[in-house]
Amino acid sequence: MGTIDTETLRSWLEAGRQVIVLDVRSAADRATSAIPGSVHVDAYADLKKHNPHALDGVSLPVDIPVVTVCNVGHVSQIASEQLQARGIAASSLEGGMRAWSLSWNIADIPLLSSSAQVIQIRRVGKGCLSYLIGSQDKAVLIDAALDPEVYFNLAQVHGWRIIAVLDTHIHADHLSRSRLLAERSGATVYLPDQERVTYSFTALHNGSTINVGAVSLTAIQTPGHTLESMSYLLDQQALFTGDTLFLQGVGRPDLHANAEESRANARLLYQSLQNLVALPANTIVLPGHTNAPTPFDKIPLTASLSDLWNQVELLQLSESDFVEKLVTRIPPVPPHHERIIELNRAGRLIENPIELEAGANNCAIS
Ligand SMILES: [Fe+2]
Repeated sequence: MGTIDTETLRSWLEAGRQVIVLDVRSAADRATSAIPGSVHVDAYADLKKHNPHALDGVSLPVDIPVVTVCNVGHVSQIASEQLQARGIAASSLEGGMRAWSLSWNIADIPLLSSSAQVIQIRRVGKGCLSYLIGSQDKAVLIDAALDPEVYFNLAQVHGWRIIAVLDTHIHADHLSRSRLLAERSGATVYLPDQERVTYSFTALHNGSTINVGAVSLTAIQTPGHTLESMSYLLDQQALFTGDTLFLQGVGRPDLHANAEESRANARLLYQSLQNLVALPANTIVLPGHTNAPTPFDKIPLTASLSDLWNQVELLQLSESDFVEKLVTRIPPVPPHHERIIELNRAGRLIENPIELEAGANNCAIS
């Protein structure tokens, strides 16, 4: 065994196959993102120097395959060769964590009474969450962040045809695949009404509905994270909140704005969140991002509105306290957000988006 590609490792983890993922990066690199369940040994510098004793302190069984991981897949090859010399079935992850950025897993979202089936698709190396909602033989996709083939294959397994693709807002941390998906499938692209996107789309307004099979999605204007941000309510049961409301916090108000505009956006976000928390307490919230690598555990990342009311302290503040807290807690900006916004406005996907999309997900403020 020499190398293994990310799709093979992804399918092993999804199938629950026994494998040890050995992360040989520095502690600082690992802090940005890691493969869930991986074992860490900070051997990067020694391996780079080809120190033959770099992994001497690591004890591994010889009867379980080991996949070594680094940033781009070079140093991990040195690691796998050293382990192979010890009789361990080791291979190196091709492209390293950079390529892993496009890996994904899924979880089914249990709904009590809707005739729709909802699948949460988690881009595990990046934290983006997409949703495939199927009813009868049709489906709609929210916030496409992966190669359209991933979504087509999932839809096909369920006998669905994707007829509509929606974005919750113009993203700043990853390239939207919605336009590409629509071009390849004939689906309609629906976006919140705004004048920033320059390709053709069908505009959604507050209260607009989209019917999919036997169910319908209703658009709810939730400005704040961005001015055009929208949430989508499925059958009065499930609320797709994009970057407005997360499981651990709320959206940042600054990515498309200067300081003064950020403060105004924070006020808008406060009102938007108040409107959302006025929905029934048992509404299931399905956010657009998560801030930690998602395990291959098939457990959905979701919470009820009442749980979030208790968990997210910001929701219970007065408007002025909310705005003050928000503008003083703004996290570092994603490294290439201006270029990403520009490409998303044009609906363009570049050949190799991984480098552009690299970096931790800093969408939430908690
Ligand atoms: Fe966003």
